[in-house]
Amino acid sequence: MRLKDKVAVITGAGSGIGRTAALIFSREGARVAVVDNNAKKGEDTVSRIIENGGEAIFVQTDVSRSEEVEKLFKITVEKYSAVHILYNNAGIFLPNQDRMVTGIAEETWDLVLNVNLKGTFLCCKYGIPEIIKSEGGVVINTSSSAGVIGVPNCDAYTATKGAIISLTRSMAVEYGPKKVRVNCIVPTAIDTPMLNQSSKENLDFDEKKFFSTTPSGRYGTPEEVANMALFLASDEASYCTGGIFVVDGGITIT
Ligand SMILES: NC(=O)c1ccc[n+]([C@@H]2O[C@H](COP(=O)([O-])OP(=O)(O)OC[C@H]3O[C@@H](n4cnc5c(N)ncnc54)[C@H](O)[C@@H]3O)[C@@H](O)[C@H]2O)c1
Repeated sequence: MRLKDKVAVITGAGSGIGRTAALIFSREGARVAVVDNNAKKGEDTVSRIIENGGEAIFVQTDVSRSEEVEKLFKITVEKYSAVHILYNNAGIFLPNQDRMVTGIAEETWDLVLNVNLKGTFLCCKYGIPEIIKSEGGVVINTSSSAGVIGVPNCDAYTATKGAIISLTRSMAVEYGPKKVRVNCIVPTAIDTPMLNQSSKENLDFDEKKFFSTTPSGRYGTPEEVANMALFLASDEASYCTGGIFVVDGGITIT
């Protein structure tokens, strides 16, 4: 088992990529703190892990709220005595509200920055000290192709996903000497509820054109991203830090 005796905190684990990662990490021996602001979805992930013989707790947390994030790490350490892996996966994408800067309401801008960027910051702020106390570990952040190439009409989202790449690099330099590796995954067009909702609601999105112009010609699966996260979380990636790892079917090179 690749994560035997490890404790992992996975945010946004009530759905999509986060849920799949929680199931895969558990299968590989990790005890998992399943984090989501949606109790029903988070508890469902925990039930699935337990049905499969794994160990997990659900900690309902809005990652944009400092006091809730602080409590999340207290609860996790009380339960499992350590934190080795922090997978910052929770994020929101709001097509049709998140537009070009001249068309975004200030509340939308604040909401997207608070969940995607401040949420990552807060989980690192309260999680990294616990990882250091646990004699080192791994932070995995989540960007998007929207943080790497020019993607129109979602400027709050792109701002957060670009910033997460910069943050990953500075944290890798800062916390490397403390035995904390920090890496970032760049998923794109992964078949999850977020993608389904956004391609339905986003009037700019043309699925046929997308398939014909991307090298892989299809959407990715949550497993394809979670397997990258598993690699980065495991000791197999012991020399990887500050890295930006695309799981995008080639989209960012077109
Ligand atoms: N699906 C894609 O195509 C794609 C592409 C690029 C990047 N991403 C990124 O991958 C990550 C996961 O995306 P997904 O497609 O699995 O999304 P998803 O919508 O299926 O799951 C996201 C989860 O995050 C939770 N969440 C939302 N706000 C939260 C908050 N404030 N606090 C805690 N939990 C919260 C939701 O309840 C949900 O369970 C996101 O950061 C997203 O930006 C996804």
